[in-house]
Amino acid sequence: MLQSKNILLGVSGGIAVYKAAALTSKLVQAGANVRVIMTESAREFVSPLTFQALSRHEVYVDTFKENNPKVIAHIDVADWADLILVAPATAHTIGKMAAGLADDMLTTTLLASTAPVWIAPAMNVHMYDHPAVKRNIRTLYEDGYRFIEPSEGYLACGYIGKGRLEEPEKIVEHIRAFFEEPKSLPLSGKKVVVTAGPTREVIDPVRFFTNRSSGKMGYAIAEAAQQMGADVTLISGPVSLTEPNHVHVVHVESAEDMYQAALAEYEEADLFIKSAAVADYTPVTSYPHKMKKQDGALEIEFTRTKDILKELGKRKEHQVLVGFAAETQDVEYYAKKKIESKHLDMIVANNVTKEGAGFATDTNVAAIIKADGTTKELPMMSKKDLAFEILKEAKQLLPKERDRA
Ligand code: CTP
Repeated sequence: MLQSKNILLGVSGGIAVYKAAALTSKLVQAGANVRVIMTESAREFVSPLTFQALSRHEVYVDTFKENNPKVIAHIDVADWADLILVAPATAHTIGKMAAGLADDMLTTTLLASTAPVWIAPAMNVHMYDHPAVKRNIRTLYEDGYRFIEPSEGYLACGYIGKGRLEEPEKIVEHIRAFFEEPKSLPLSGKKVVVTAGPTREVIDPVRFFTNRSSGKMGYAIAEAAQQMGADVTLISGPVSLTEPNHVHVVHVESAEDMYQAALAEYEEADLFIKSAAVADYTPVTSYPHKMKKQDGALEIEFTRTKDILKELGKRKEHQVLVGFAAETQDVEYYAKKKIESKHLDMIVANNVTKEGAGFATDTNVAAIIKADGTTKELPMMSKKDLAFEILKEAKQLLPKERDRA
């Protein structure tokens, strides 16, 4: 069932190393070609010879032990693997992976490989529950790694709880199912357009009106959508953030620029998320030269910009349209009014006066309200986590998902 699949098994140092020996044997029996990398601490538990005998291949431990001068071992084995399985994965190895470190053969190979990676953690119940370990697991999960959760039961340290390496038979079952499942991510084949950041309304060559939006929320959504397999275009106002990888970025400045860019992308979009903070007004006159100061007060006349979201709502065909509502009072009331007036499918509403919510922060406190009136209040969370929540909810509104429901 795993006939001729190349599986690279990474073994890090915990008592469950003995189970990794059984796992090697089960993978070989299932038809896989298995190669093993051990960390130095894994060797303290079981000798590499055991894994060599079971896999019928030399075991890698030292990054600098290059037995074949024709290749570089960690690159060669990284390219060879159809799948990498880290079992057992200790808290330390998980931490190093989450931080992108490469200080031994296993972590170096992991960074060099483009193969899917499965991680089977094993550790003491309190370690598994530790916020740092949870954070690292969440990071790896968001980076696209897959996990085989530890099972509950008697742990070698004497505790009873969650932390036991999953049984080798079950791990093999997960891997087999993975090779059989169709290779698609939740938003594969979908085009997602996200707008982010503020706009700038120019009054003369050196001055403009803008707002406090940092763009962090929109950038987090674009990045998350890309990780979920979507083809992503990010229409960005002026911000000082790094462009997310593999996302097409269209830079705009004014509300009018953003309107034009949004219209150009709209037809192709399956999901359009309007997280930008668009100026509602723009100066009537934009002077070609710097305005000189005069005696007395200055009056500037403003005119309304286009409500981009409302215009998109009017033109809606197949698109799922998601807006944001930044409010300072009666959040749900105003948010629901915006769903109606702008023909939205969903709105992400937040009270920007709440602690942990709002513009320049890395966190947000929001409620997701759908056109059918269902509301999901979310606790304070990172903008990254909120991005995944928003996409998870919006995905359910995509036509195919609706048909299936
Ligand atoms: N929006 C837009 N074009 C504008 C103004 C807002 O597309 N000219 C979008 C925003 O991107 C956001 C949503 O409309 O997704 C709501 O923005 P918000 O500033 O909360 O509300 P407004 O529509 O400006 O309404 P109000 O001023 O009454 O709060």
